[in-house]
Amino acid sequence: MSQQETPLFTGLVQHVKKKPIQFHIPGHKGGAGIDPEFGKFIGENALSIDLINIAPLDDLHHPKGMIKKAQQLAALAFGADHTFFSVQGTSGAIMTMVMSVCGPGDKIIVPRNVHKSVMAAIVFSGAVPVFIHPDIDPILGISHGITTEAVEKALHMHPDAKGVLVINPTYFGITADLKKIVEIVHSYNLPVLVDEAHGVHIHFHESLPMSAMEAGADMSATSVHKLGGSLTQSSILNIREGLISPQRVQSILSMLTTTSTSYLLLASLDAARKRLATEGRDLIDESINLANSIRSRVNSIPHLSCTGHEILQSKAVYGYDPTKLIISVKDLGINGYEAEKWLREVYQIEVELSDLYNILCIITPGDTEFEGNMLIEALKELSRQYGKSNEENINSVVFLPEIPLLAMTPRDAFYSDTEIVPFEDSAGRISAEFIMVYPPGIPIFIPGEIITEENLRYIRKNIDVGLPVQGPEDETLKTLKVIKEHKAIK
Ligand SMILES: Cc1ncc(COP(=O)(O)O)c(C=O)c1O
Repeated sequence: MSQQETPLFTGLVQHVKKKPIQFHIPGHKGGAGIDPEFGKFIGENALSIDLINIAPLDDLHHPKGMIKKAQQLAALAFGADHTFFSVQGTSGAIMTMVMSVCGPGDKIIVPRNVHKSVMAAIVFSGAVPVFIHPDIDPILGISHGITTEAVEKALHMHPDAKGVLVINPTYFGITADLKKIVEIVHSYNLPVLVDEAHGVHIHFHESLPMSAMEAGADMSATSVHKLGGSLTQSSILNIREGLISPQRVQSILSMLTTTSTSYLLLASLDAARKRLATEGRDLIDESINLANSIRSRVNSIPHLSCTGHEILQSKAVYGYDPTKLIISVKDLGINGYEAEKWLREVYQIEVELSDLYNILCIITPGDTEFEGNMLIEALKELSRQYGKSNEENINSVVFLPEIPLLAMTPRDAFYSDTEIVPFEDSAGRISAEFIMVYPPGIPIFIPGEIITEENLRYIRKNIDVGLPVQGPEDETLKTLKVIKEHKAIK
């Protein structure tokens, strides 16, 4: 098999060319029965391959034909023993990883700044998280990776854990010393699960940090849709055999996956893999050069800064992905959300995310000098507008709250008797729900954690500046759901 081939995409096109008479779902039948305005907008070709698992087109749940071949080519491209396609995003792949190694009561070692899908899988499986404190960047106000020492310590204290999960790279493109972490975890005969949502491309360029499969990890959930050119929601789960059973992974992934798998998404994974494997290095090279040129131009704009290799100073920052532009706006005296909003309203520029102190822009093969120049022009104007007027606010100190204490397992808390209390009165109580800012979707509280004043202040600060705080059932955040207290009867 050659990486130039696209067995799934080509197979679909060949099927469509035969013009079969369709008495099967989807009911729009190649677009003939769809709303004409919508149909015209998205186009006949896309609608023609919006098919499902009829016999000639294989079945993601039991692949034996074109999907199997496409997954095998992906495994070869990513250096995995097996690759599974996911139409449930990387969230589905992450839940599969966790649920493949953990059952009720099993311990899993995870950094506290994990994506909500990890915590959801911990609730579903009934696993008990052992949290590792991520390294905090006091200048940027963001969390990084975990140190090898912290992994060693966690394993020493919990040798009965079932596995270790690592985020590599983080949303901001920072990587840990994954190879060393894998060595340490394997010395305990345990698997390493990697959340590689933000790292599909790193496998395809030698100057980017080491990918999960290259580092010898056992599983990696990788968002092809985020940075690898496939359609939104399509991801892969890579497996190395040995400590992990591919059969068990397949059956858990299947349990978590719709039976109506989108062939548009699957075909886009096949095509994206081909492009990454055959042209990825050159395309990524261009992205790195473009990002580096934007970075150095941002650094010449007063009051703005965009970190580069100088970030590689702490033990938890072993590598970084230069295609991520973390632009700190705190010296402008405004917060990241204000900068995001200003860029949208004045320049029609949409950033990847903002937080209290930064905006994040990602550079991919979809960008050119033009977009880079527009960003620079806009940032220069932003700096002109805010740099002078806000001088008294400059150099604000970053505020990141302490990680709350876990009083009961997330699953026990999630299924406990609960009550609703006013947000302001919730300090000291045990949270029964998740609270996070999305993106990046890292929980501020998870079920089972003790709510603190400091964390409430942090949530309030995020709400006040307009950042999207999500999770609680009460979307207004006037109340929170906490574990019910049973007072003694007098
Ligand atoms: C670190 C991390 N892991 C996992 C995910 C989930 O990926 P997906 O949106 O493909 O489900 C995200 C999404 O933002 C993420 O940032």
